[in-house]
Amino acid sequence: MTVADALVDLRSDTVTRPTAGMREAMATADVGDDVYGEDPTVNALEAEVAALFGHEAALFAPSGSMANQIALQLLVSPGNELLCDADAHVVTYEIGAAAAYGGISSRTWPAVGADIDPETVAGMIRPDGYFAVPTRAIAVEQTHNRGGGGVIPLATLRELRRVADDAEVALHCDGARIWHAHVADAVPLIEYGQLFDTLSVCLSKGLGAPVGSLVVGSAEKIERARMIRKRMGGGMRQAGILAAAGRYALAHHVDRLAEDHARAARLAEAVAPFGVLAAPVRTNLVPLDLTKHALDARALAAAAREERVLVSVLGPRTARLVTHLDLDDAGVTRAAAVLGRLLAA
Ligand SMILES: Cc1ncc(COP(=O)(O)O)c(C=O)c1O
Repeated sequence: MTVADALVDLRSDTVTRPTAGMREAMATADVGDDVYGEDPTVNALEAEVAALFGHEAALFAPSGSMANQIALQLLVSPGNELLCDADAHVVTYEIGAAAAYGGISSRTWPAVGADIDPETVAGMIRPDGYFAVPTRAIAVEQTHNRGGGGVIPLATLRELRRVADDAEVALHCDGARIWHAHVADAVPLIEYGQLFDTLSVCLSKGLGAPVGSLVVGSAEKIERARMIRKRMGGGMRQAGILAAAGRYALAHHVDRLAEDHARAARLAEAVAPFGVLAAPVRTNLVPLDLTKHALDARALAAAAREERVLVSVLGPRTARLVTHLDLDDAGVTRAAAVLGRLLAA
């Protein structure tokens, strides 16, 4: 196959395949039964990630959705309320799990991506009382997926922490792509970690691991999280095979995210002249708004697919390009040319 023929998959950063080095680490991992707490590689990964975020403990989970939902169940008991963005992954793509499994009532602020106004959030918090659903937690997403990979500034997060403390509610971070924020804004992971009661972080989005996320928090919370994970069917046995991939990803694939960000910027530059860039590109997601374009999202995706470039359709006139570990400069050059040609027609 020539470079010109190669498939360029820009749908998601979850489409990556484990590298040779990662597969080697998986094949040689020391393993045990993790439901007994006896998998040394899982235990090492959990300790490593807890330390990265300055928390006491962490728990390995099979997916980002499960990690988020475990955290939400830790923070909000049934019949109580979670506040989050209307476009948040936890209320958009997790199939109603907060309500279905946690009995959690969710209320949202209008979708603003990473551009959160802490005072708006403060104004939504409802106190204890017999007349209204009491707010127990606020969740934010770093980086914001449907918000085009936007990065919530550290100053905003600090303000939200103050708001949460004043109201005595918890603060959760869906940090599926917190690594991207860390690289884009040069904020140490530990600084992010200290601002949240719980975080969920993913090893399979951009970092190249095939499976795995972690819930991060206090030792007491993570002990309870272990029970919730088991209840949800997330207890795994020789999971060290997967944890080894995660440890490899953390050691080798975090700093290189800067390359993904630069490639996303190149794609953004290629589509910007056609007025379809939905927001400035900060990380590895390039959000497209086709409201004013002749092509809608499905038509663009279908035409690009004909030329072996895959893009995500997020709505009738919303599409998304994503850069990742399995993409190189040649792929970006070809995708930029194809998309530029289709959007110009
Ligand atoms: C922001 C965000 N949170 C959570 C998840 C859930 O991860 P998973 O697909 O592993 O359940 C995703 C998945 O893309 C995501 O983008």
